Amino acid sequence: MITAIYPGSFDPITNGHLDIIQRAATIYDRLVVTVMSNSSKKPIFSLQKRVEFIEKVTGDIPNVTVESYSGLLVDFARQKQAKVIIKGLRAVSDFEYEFQMALMNRKLNNEIETMFLMTQSQYSYLSSSVVKEVAKLGGCIKELVPESIEAEVIQHCNQK
Ligand code: PNS
Repeated sequence: MITAIYPGSFDPITNGHLDIIQRAATIYDRLVVTVMSNSSKKPIFSLQKRVEFIEKVTGDIPNVTVESYSGLLVDFARQKQAKVIIKGLRAVSDFEYEFQMALMNRKLNNEIETMFLMTQSQYSYLSSSVVKEVAKLGGCIKELVPESIEAEVIQHCNQK
């Protein structure tokens, strides 16, 4: 039984994230999507809302659960007896940061492997930041986020 963790800020979850979740869930027995804080980002959606969005859009995938955690990723992985951290890679520009994170996580716990899944090309330009910017400025975010959360994302982005 191999458990994998898919960590991120998910502010909010995008179709690119969902694609990684769907694919990782076919590879590992159990996938724990984990909403965490990134010290260099200030989220606009509450932790609770980000978890709720992910639960809503992954409810049909039986081996996926959603949690939040505020400490070190490797400590959470150890708690969950996870052997694998999943990260999505969109472009070369993601690589340097993700490489550094993977090496630091390995330094902290060398029993946990980071595995990278390449994005599908149609999501390679997609990020939560781009979604928030487009929604704030009145653009269309259809096909960027799951349909079931689209209206709430637009409404929230326009309150800020
Ligand atoms: O979606 P993001 O913002 O790229 O996700 C980054 C995240 C949350 C996975 C990363 O910042 C993280 O792992 N935070 C938890 C603290 C930690 O363990 N940092 C790595 C060691 S420096």
